[in-house]
Amino acid sequence: CGIVAYVGHREAAPLILKGLKRLEYRGYDSAGIALLNGHGLKVYKKKGKVSDLEGELKDKELKARIGIGHTRWATHGEPNDINAHPHYSTNKRLAIIHNGIIENYAAIKQSLVNKGYSFESATDTEVLIKFIEDIQTNMFCTLEEAVRIALHEVVGAYAIVIIDEENPTQLIAARKGSPLVIGVGEDEFFFASDATPIIEYTKEVVYLDDYEIAIVKDNELVIKNLANEDIAPYIETVELELEAIEKGGYDHFMLKEIFEQPRSIADSMRGRINLDSASLQLGGLRDYLDKIAKTDRIVIVACGTSWHAGLVGEYLFEELARVNVEVEYASEFRYRNPIIKEGDIVIAISQSGETADTMAALELAKSKGAIILGVCNVVGSSIARITHAGVYTHAGPEIGVASTKAFTAQVTVLSLIAIATAHKKGTISQDLYRELLFGLDAIPAKVEKILKSAEKIKDISKLFTFASNFIFLGRGLNFPVALEGALKLKEISYIHAEGYPAAEMKHGPIALIDEDMPVVFIATKDASYEKIVSNIQEVKARKGRVIAIVTEGDTLIPKMVDFVVEVPRTNDLLLPLLTSIPLQLISYYIAVLRGRNVDQPRNLAKSVTVE
Ligand code: G6P
Repeated sequence: CGIVAYVGHREAAPLILKGLKRLEYRGYDSAGIALLNGHGLKVYKKKGKVSDLEGELKDKELKARIGIGHTRWATHGEPNDINAHPHYSTNKRLAIIHNGIIENYAAIKQSLVNKGYSFESATDTEVLIKFIEDIQTNMFCTLEEAVRIALHEVVGAYAIVIIDEENPTQLIAARKGSPLVIGVGEDEFFFASDATPIIEYTKEVVYLDDYEIAIVKDNELVIKNLANEDIAPYIETVELELEAIEKGGYDHFMLKEIFEQPRSIADSMRGRINLDSASLQLGGLRDYLDKIAKTDRIVIVACGTSWHAGLVGEYLFEELARVNVEVEYASEFRYRNPIIKEGDIVIAISQSGETADTMAALELAKSKGAIILGVCNVVGSSIARITHAGVYTHAGPEIGVASTKAFTAQVTVLSLIAIATAHKKGTISQDLYRELLFGLDAIPAKVEKILKSAEKIKDISKLFTFASNFIFLGRGLNFPVALEGALKLKEISYIHAEGYPAAEMKHGPIALIDEDMPVVFIATKDASYEKIVSNIQEVKARKGRVIAIVTEGDTLIPKMVDFVVEVPRTNDLLLPLLTSIPLQLISYYIAVLRGRNVDQPRNLAKSVTVE
């Protein structure tokens, strides 16, 4: 979910609505806003996108200098008008927006029901605000005290902002587990789930920490912990430019982000590779590279697309640094009794740096004495802050819900870490070290070249718009690329798709092949080329329709298959950085042709801050 709140001298409603649009990637099941002015505190909310809410607000009187807004990704209660945030207290004096989950809400709700409270919605959030209201009324305390007392009782994760009709210059916010940034302007304050709604107005921000409460009142910001001790606000400057979070002439953020990859991959290497001295520096790992080089086991934890990047990382680390790597779904890892010993290296990969399962997996690993490292895109995110060290991906803000440039940036950074580790350990030759550094440096221009095939890929996509299934096959490093290709297509076109290791196809998926089944082969000229050629024949023999991603100049495969898309040559180990690009474009064009909302596919959210 996304949170925006404002208090100051500007019109709050348009500012909050614009901010919510910037945060829609976090959820878009429903949206709402609460505004406070001389006529009192009013809540407006609506199922659907922020634009649906705007429609609802069209002829309303919205003048206010203070307000809170929310865009939701439903957890408790279906997405509808009633379950949308903000939620009122019973006396309608307070309203709250909330991101996260209150795990013990049922018990709190029962105690409130016993006292005569009733509930309109099925949300944990309404329970929280009525709990706070109950404390305030019965203990005759200030709202700030009531919030603190309530939060002592609450189990779960939250970022909240509360507005109070009786205190028209005051907003109270708190955080545990879900991100919250405070923008500090001239006589104005902003609250948001990330800095994107704020940077238009101020670059000065304070990242609230877990168990902290922020009180803005009469133009003053006070931060306290749950023990009521004052915390001096630490003001940082965000280095984010507005154009980085706008569409810049593209039809969709996803397309913009696909086309940004020559730059985002270059940015992920910038200042790290020096070709003159053929060397590689990873400042973020300065004190840890020795430890990574000495370990006999690395565990990678991640979710979704980041997990696929982790699988590419596994091949790279094993091949180059000869170290045993396990790649785990963060959600599975944390609920097993994972074998982690003191000093083990656990690397989390996360675009947002906020994914709840990945965060919890890291906390578990840390508690067992592991060294925890992060590969995150969002600077200052929760994962970036709890890890001992890490390497940022520097892909820039990714707004399309389906991850594209973050994936290639993650693969770039994992390549850098694997190469640096191998160099340190002496498991690769100087020649290969140089070849990989020069190879990486040449990737952005090669991606640029692949992007020139966009029109051709669009034409191919037209022929597959109405397919109801797809199979993606690859071997070696291209196997995770196949998984990622299938995930991309599923996410944005809603076509059922599966990724498989090409050879494994014989053990099941081959039963699905007929003249209606499109099969995408990633069949570049690498070590498994001959083998994959045989796999293509197996599919063609059963009349499957094949799109193959091949190496430039390949003359054999184009004769065997229905369509080809070429990628330039590179070192085999760097292939995922090229082969993933045409697959992103295929998904994008098919989804657009099917009329899907590619930036905001149904039911998904970009940043999943619930378990
Ligand atoms: C969500 C997003 C995916 C993303 C995954 C992990 O499911 O829709 O695109 O890969 O979360 O997110 P993270 O921010 O941890 O990389």
